[in-house]
Amino acid sequence: MNRSMYCGAVRKEQIGKKLTLCGWIHSRRDHGGVLFIDLRDREGLVQIVFHPEKTDAFKSGESLRPEFVVQVTGEVKPRPEGTVNPNIATGEVEVWVDAVEILNTSLTPPFEVSEFTNTSEDVRLRYRYLDLRRPPLQRNLILRHLITQTSRTYLAQRGFLELETPFLTKSTPEGARDFLVPSRLSLGDFYALPQSPQLFKQLFMVAGFDRYYQIARCFRDEDLRADRQPEFTQIDIEMSFLDEEDIIGLIEGLVKTVFKEAMGKDIPTPFPRLSYDEAQRRFGSDKPDLRYAMEISDVSAVFSKTGFKVFAGALAAGGVVRALCLKGGASMSRMDIDKLTEWVKGYGAKGLAWIKITDKGPESSITKFFTPEELGGLQKAVGAETGDIIFFGADQPATVASYLGALRVELAKRAGFTKTKDVFKFCWVVDFPLFEFSADENRWGSVHHPFTRPDAAGETALLEMSKKNDFSAPEISKMKSRAYDLVLNGTELGGGSLRIHRRDLQRAVFQLLGINDELAQMKFGFLLEALEYGAPPHGGIALGLDRFVALLAGEESIRDVMAYPKTQKGVCPLSGAPSAVEPKQLLELGLKLNLPQPDGKKA
Ligand code: AMO
Ligand code: AMP
Repeated sequence: MNRSMYCGAVRKEQIGKKLTLCGWIHSRRDHGGVLFIDLRDREGLVQIVFHPEKTDAFKSGESLRPEFVVQVTGEVKPRPEGTVNPNIATGEVEVWVDAVEILNTSLTPPFEVSEFTNTSEDVRLRYRYLDLRRPPLQRNLILRHLITQTSRTYLAQRGFLELETPFLTKSTPEGARDFLVPSRLSLGDFYALPQSPQLFKQLFMVAGFDRYYQIARCFRDEDLRADRQPEFTQIDIEMSFLDEEDIIGLIEGLVKTVFKEAMGKDIPTPFPRLSYDEAQRRFGSDKPDLRYAMEISDVSAVFSKTGFKVFAGALAAGGVVRALCLKGGASMSRMDIDKLTEWVKGYGAKGLAWIKITDKGPESSITKFFTPEELGGLQKAVGAETGDIIFFGADQPATVASYLGALRVELAKRAGFTKTKDVFKFCWVVDFPLFEFSADENRWGSVHHPFTRPDAAGETALLEMSKKNDFSAPEISKMKSRAYDLVLNGTELGGGSLRIHRRDLQRAVFQLLGINDELAQMKFGFLLEALEYGAPPHGGIALGLDRFVALLAGEESIRDVMAYPKTQKGVCPLSGAPSAVEPKQLLELGLKLNLPQPDGKKA
């Protein structure tokens, strides 16, 4: 089958040439006895024209329906004056058809294969192969290809080896639940699908490969959202003999190259860096969206002697008073504010005090509690002007950061600050805490993963604690890790760290996490053992490829940049997975189902 070129690639240069084109019938129009059809392939549309004089071709043309697959032969002609379509790349030409062969017919598709659709996502995913024919999804997957291809070339040029790691493996702790695969050859045992290649990439460093990367599929059984899928892809990187600057420089170069190659866009580097503490204080988040200012201000000093009991109470309890000013927000209604107050309570707020700045001055039911000095100091501290509204958080710093941070994002969304196109604000967040205390489980957990290297002071302290087997020191919560997250427009694009490469330090961290030697041996014995055979200092990072593509493509959901994603319920409507299996298969695996009854009780 001799195809001359892609339909979407035909240009003026081909005028006068006879071409054979293959593609799908996109749309058709009859005009005064002449038949116009848009023929589509992955590169775009071209107009093909059937004239009644070419009797055979015309007859076949009349039988064509949307999504039929055809091969046509014809001559490229300039479009008559006045009919040029500047909106499409092939808009100056059309192909006058001499012959057409129908390669296959199509049922009427359940939805139109068009640029825009309001078909439900369930139906789109059920017929994903039709959905994928739609131009935006074709563009997204082609962009995805460009990004992976550019990343591969960039990393290969810098001496990184693309190496694979197993899917059937043991649990790697990244904080989510594992997907398990029962073993037939070892009945009663299970593989876990990797949450990331973390342990194996560290072993590559022990093995001396020095610079590794992989476009790696990862599996995490967690609650799904717009930016989370149960299986997703990382650009996963690890290197030896490095410090933070090596990784940060490498990734800034990678991002710059990808933007240039895939989007033709220059991204300024280096990216700004924020410490975790600063990010929390100024933006109430460890993934600050820097597309808009709207910073959180600490106004504790302004209200240090206040008579307003909500603020005074918080300060007396060692807490803070912080404020968030929304420009032009004074027009917000009482009802809007009440709704917002209820909403922030979901993030741990006890209330949401506010003051509007109107042309009559500060307005709120609480202004009566404040002196003119306090109101003046406040306005100055947050930079509020007439027409603005100021919201307050008064509580412990972490609580206030959490809900004012959430409020900042929500207000920005409502005000349309996030409806940007082509604005890419990167930053690094560094100096993360190493551990966080879970009050629910009454134990310490890793903020990243337990292989993350502490800073120098933390290393010394941990080894000391391990020697004494006493992990009660209050400084644990203040220990910093040598981890870094890459953030783009308020999304965590990637994260990584330097790793622990000393057995004694790794042991100390496990002890602190309440993972005793026996448990550590059972779960990660192979890594611990490897640390005793000349493990070099090493570290790395993983970028979420799906999130990267989605942000570049301007898509809100990573599902729109994945070929075959799952729904929010983890279902693939196309294949019907997950699904029941044959009793014989269960038997072979030594498994018996014990499903909850409709009343929730076990059988
Ligand atoms: P982390 O768990 O931070 O680090 O993952 C790295 C990046 O992967 C992306 N990501 C996801 N994307 C889609 N769906 C998900 N469910 C999902 N979970 C994570 C995010 C995230 O920033 N082994 C470490 C990396 C390292 O230390 O080198 C790791 O996996 O963009
Ligand atoms: P109250 O004195 O409880 O009626 O609260 C007065 C105002 O302060 C109301 O607008 C509450 O929503 C708000 N408020 C109460 N507690 C807090 C808090 N911890 N932080 C910020 N605002 C609060």
